[in-house]
Amino acid sequence: MSTILEKENTVLSVRGLKKSFGGQVILDDVSLDLKRGEVVLLRGENGSGKTTLVNILTGNLEPDKGEIHLNINGNKEIFSWPRRWWKEVNPFDHFTPERLVWEGVGRVWQDIRLFPTMSTLENVMVSSPKQRGENPALALISSKAKSENKQNKKISSEWLSKLGLGDRLDSSCDKISLGQMKRVAIARAIQAGAKILFLDEPLSGLDNSGISYVMKYLETIARESAITLVIVEHVFNISTILKLASAVWTLSHGRVQINKAHEIKESTVNNGNHLHNLLRQIAGNKGKIYTKQLPNGAKLNVVNTDSLEESQAILEVKDLVVKRGIRTVIDGLSLSLRAGHFYLLEAPNGWGKSSLLDVIAGIHPSESGNIILKGEEINSLPTYSRIKKGITYLRSQQSVFTSLNVEEQRRLAKTDRQLFGNTLNCKTKGGCLSGGEKQKLLIDMLPAANVYLLDEPMIGLDNVSIGRLVELIKQMTVKWKTVLITVPEYKEV
Ligand SMILES: Nc1ncnc2c1ncn2[C@@H]1O[C@H](COP(=O)(O)OP(=O)(O)OP(=O)(O)O)[C@@H](O)[C@H]1O
Ligand SMILES: [Mg+2]
Repeated sequence: MSTILEKENTVLSVRGLKKSFGGQVILDDVSLDLKRGEVVLLRGENGSGKTTLVNILTGNLEPDKGEIHLNINGNKEIFSWPRRWWKEVNPFDHFTPERLVWEGVGRVWQDIRLFPTMSTLENVMVSSPKQRGENPALALISSKAKSENKQNKKISSEWLSKLGLGDRLDSSCDKISLGQMKRVAIARAIQAGAKILFLDEPLSGLDNSGISYVMKYLETIARESAITLVIVEHVFNISTILKLASAVWTLSHGRVQINKAHEIKESTVNNGNHLHNLLRQIAGNKGKIYTKQLPNGAKLNVVNTDSLEESQAILEVKDLVVKRGIRTVIDGLSLSLRAGHFYLLEAPNGWGKSSLLDVIAGIHPSESGNIILKGEEINSLPTYSRIKKGITYLRSQQSVFTSLNVEEQRRLAKTDRQLFGNTLNCKTKGGCLSGGEKQKLLIDMLPAANVYLLDEPMIGLDNVSIGRLVELIKQMTVKWKTVLITVPEYKEV
């Protein structure tokens, strides 16, 4: 059928792929091959088209031009664009995500997309292919539906256990941490029968143990089940992925550069953006860095940019107890944040980083304890009053207004900060922005304040943007502002 797929073990080939949005060329003549069991790192700056490429290769978006050849399970398929009219009317030739999932092309979304009110186990079970129970008639008359369901439950529990979630099978997916959600999403894609799996930033937001569970698992499915993996990641996790990947695709200005993994190991991995370098950059020559141990394996790294002066406490948290559902996530925490200091709260997933910030901002209630801003207790104040008093909070959900464009959102936020201004197209709607672009817009739109609380602001940002964020933090501390950012517990690799 195709000469391209005759090559040994090639499961997917792409030829001459093009995609533009409103005249902006994102992919320009991209050609690639994927082999069975191969592991590829897909990297590139924010907005370079990584998610767009994954969207196309998983049937979520049609390219303007090009060909996709699939050869999974011995079924050879060719999709080509522009589509011929008879392909459009042929009900068996639709290029859709459902169809490609059936063929064995799976994905894990950058923004995760679990069913929030279902348990972790149900989220995985629901993707089991060809379930008799899906058909109400068969569910009633077929004796096998019940035993199949039992079997699905067993396999789904095993996937989750292998990813370290064996004790959270019944937890509702809106009550688990970001890192845990990512692992559920991976288990779900595997349970759906993926033979080629696209993972969009699977490690971002994960702590050390989460990363090691996921990496071990990905290694197992690649080596033992010969599942092909294409993994999108940014700077903090690139060196981890390179331990597994054999090839690297780098997207830049619409073009893809293909390298063997060992070719790029040396030059681009240790690029000075790991956490201790980041703290050093903020501290500058005069600043002091010290670390305080917090309960349950968390650390508070403190940077005092001007070590000569001891500033006053601006925000104090005293004996704070916070619950999420029936679980006590924070049990008697006390902190004191000073003006002109930078704080980096490094804690494992599920420690309660977001819960702590939610409580300080008045979004989630505390069980007991005090929050004191400039000597005044603010426990009973609503969020808007706390913001008026000088607290700004960037939540980790990356929620922008999807139907407003960048320019309209900036106008709404009434800020003129343009830290990343020139890298964002002012006419792009919020819902169309890439993950990193959303984060940049939200950082740009933060209202001016005395205390900045930023929950995992570096997630999804490329190297250059992290550099700009570090500069912004430095400027803020120089102006005697207090900045607290959270990161997952992190280990240099
Ligand atoms: N439907 C759309 N309409 C207009 N522009 C879009 C649309 N989808 C994506 N874009 C733009 O295309 C570019 C590529 O987006 P994409 O999401 O592929 O980037 P990315 O490489 O995944 O970035 P990130 O690292 O931030 O996740 C971005 O500039 C984005 O704003
Ligand atoms: Mg992306």
